[in-house]
Amino acid sequence: MVRAAFTAALERVRENAGGAAAADLELLLSAQTEDEVRALHRAAYQVKLREVGPVVYLRGLIELGNNCARDCLYCGIRLSNDLVERFTLTAEQIVAGARLAHEFGYGSLVLQGGERNDKAHTEFITEALERVHRATGGELSVTLSLGQQTRAVYRRWREAGAHRYLLRMETTNRELYGRLHPDAADLADWEARRRCLDDLRAVDYHVGTGVMIGLPGQSLGDLARDLRFFVEQDVDMIGMGPYIPHDDTPLGGAGLQAFAPDFTFDPAAQVRLGLNMIACTRLLLPDANIASTTALQALDPAGREMGLLAGANVIMPNVTDTEYRAGYQLYNGKPGLTENAPETRRRLEASIEAIGETIGYGRRGDAPRAVKRGLGTG
Ligand code: 5AD
Repeated sequence: MVRAAFTAALERVRENAGGAAAADLELLLSAQTEDEVRALHRAAYQVKLREVGPVVYLRGLIELGNNCARDCLYCGIRLSNDLVERFTLTAEQIVAGARLAHEFGYGSLVLQGGERNDKAHTEFITEALERVHRATGGELSVTLSLGQQTRAVYRRWREAGAHRYLLRMETTNRELYGRLHPDAADLADWEARRRCLDDLRAVDYHVGTGVMIGLPGQSLGDLARDLRFFVEQDVDMIGMGPYIPHDDTPLGGAGLQAFAPDFTFDPAAQVRLGLNMIACTRLLLPDANIASTTALQALDPAGREMGLLAGANVIMPNVTDTEYRAGYQLYNGKPGLTENAPETRRRLEASIEAIGETIGYGRRGDAPRAVKRGLGTG
């Protein structure tokens, strides 16, 4: 059964793309019956085929360290979590991961880690970028996901060889953002984070953002506004995934009830909402790169492939040594803790082929949106 209002909203969103109304998006996000979900995902998949084809770009993901200066209530590597064993990879280990990605033909690398603003760290990243560039003949495009930094730091990293930057806003609901980030002195900090997106654009990155989906205290209206925000910020890339509680954080276990008494964590509902968000994003930003993230896979073994069929076109397989993966658990049940990089690649090849898509080996896979903008990859 597809509600008549749902069909009408889907038609309008298809026609207006970036101009879609928040009320229509809210209705699409509420798709719950098999028929409605199928109609939404099909529409998004058609747009993806038209804009980027049945091709998946793989990014080798390196989790370079779990030391973090921030205390986000939801995150397993938050500053106050004493139960995590902290690690930082050496530059050699990062280069080894980059070589592996290069050898695998992934075409692109993502360096992600806890947020640190100290000079030792920012200089270490600069050095690592330079070494990665040398070791791979400058052939890989490099995405950073290292949190809020000054424009000067962003610029230095760009000059050292990074091309893209992913900074999730987590939510555009300022009040919820304030509650989730006790280290944020006041609500204005949301705006400070948003200004980072301007800084990144100003120093020539391909810019990505995203949110967590199904956070306690978040409404469908909030998610519809998140979608509108992606359009307003005119971003090239989106990385987002469902919220998953982590037991050793204030937003896991008993703390979760205290934070949002009405919230119950339902994995199937989180996956559904996550996929609906991907589909809506594809309808709004037809030529963006959209990631199908590990959080989807954590809740459903086929989650990432379902993400591809709902409109995503990027997957970020881990190329970090399995030895360190246990230290990088942002949420409960993170998959692939013991699966090494070659196994991951084989499994992805099979599952991607099974849905009728191919892997864009040896290509950087820039978002068509960024290419149209004239952003270089050098
Ligand atoms: N559930 C889902 N995603 C999470 N992240 C952090 N903690 C969680 C969680 N509990 C996401 C945030 C962050 C990214 C690195 O991981 O969106 O930006």
